[in-house]
Amino acid sequence: MKLKIAVLSGDGIGPEVTAEAIKTLDAIAQRFDHKFEYHAAPVGAIAIDEFNDPLPEATLTVCKTTDAVLFGAIGHPKYDNNPDAPVRPEQGLLKLRKELGLFANIRPTTIYAKLADQSPLRPERIAGVDLTIYRELTGGIYFGEKTLSDDKTSASDLCSYSQEEVERIAHMAFKTAQNRRKKLTLVDKANVLETSRLWRRVVTEISKAYPDVALDFLFVDNAAMQLILNPAQFDVMLTENMFGDILSDEASVLGGSIGLAASASVGNKFAMFEPIHGSYPQAAGKGIANPVASILSAAMLLEHFNLLEEANAIKEAVTASIDKEVSTSDIIPGSNYSTADVGNFITRYILADEVTVSGTDNRALGRSTII
Ligand code: IPM
Ligand code: MG
Repeated sequence: MKLKIAVLSGDGIGPEVTAEAIKTLDAIAQRFDHKFEYHAAPVGAIAIDEFNDPLPEATLTVCKTTDAVLFGAIGHPKYDNNPDAPVRPEQGLLKLRKELGLFANIRPTTIYAKLADQSPLRPERIAGVDLTIYRELTGGIYFGEKTLSDDKTSASDLCSYSQEEVERIAHMAFKTAQNRRKKLTLVDKANVLETSRLWRRVVTEISKAYPDVALDFLFVDNAAMQLILNPAQFDVMLTENMFGDILSDEASVLGGSIGLAASASVGNKFAMFEPIHGSYPQAAGKGIANPVASILSAAMLLEHFNLLEEANAIKEAVTASIDKEVSTSDIIPGSNYSTADVGNFITRYILADEVTVSGTDNRALGRSTII
């Protein structure tokens, strides 16, 4: 398969982790005989610095003329602490989601047996956890009208949803549930919010078309608690934009580190793949960032094009790296492996010849090989 991939590595650790994802994709292309072509384009704080625009028109064009977008991270501290900044890096990401119509953000939580001790929860609490969050991504309070009074003493953000916005992501989430454990939990605040009551009505109606999927409802405050108390109860969680933002960060650390959490954002025409983590500016350039979230986002990209064997090859290589403790220090405390070391291990593991499997570990580590 030939794929054109837009690469928007962005700010902070974005470029470092994205470089490892590209290395991994190159290994997949080599092993499975595909051709991946990369088109780099600026986004975020670096694009503001250079073009005074977090999403230059030319970048958007690159995204619209390629098959998929691989995104790194966005954000810089010089904007975080300045509420008066006229333009912010995050606007680039939000505009990109809107322009590409990426209405569904899919955020799976994967637990690695080896990392059970790294989880903030006791091992028995995370046993059996396998959940995925469907977060609506182009509506709700993120995109509603915003106001700030002239004297800057009052402000508002409107949360609104249409039936159609709920329907299209609900169908996706139900279809996914059908291929998983057949359970869908709608998370909302229907005891308070009108938009949540709309979500309940629409999702209940749609559920009739998926009789094999059990639908239940949770208020978001309770859902936040249940994710800690008993996360294994969840299969597919469906929710609106801001609740999904918050809950997916919470869910991502169940496995031990947000550095492992990948995501896909899809619409009817375009698709983008990105780690859940942010730009982690304190770590930028130090080679300590975990590239696994970005590498697993590349695996989700392959899944999107139905390259399932290829995606599995990446996942197996990631699991092997974790099992062998070839990981950054966020998951193996005191580890000396750098961002690039982890990417190199995963790349070599993918390319390792099965016939000489006895030598795989050392070769993958880039250490001496006795075959
Ligand atoms: C995310 C991020 C973004 C969001 C920010 C960077 C705008 O937190 O992708 O979860 O809030 O959607
Ligand atoms: Mg977030």
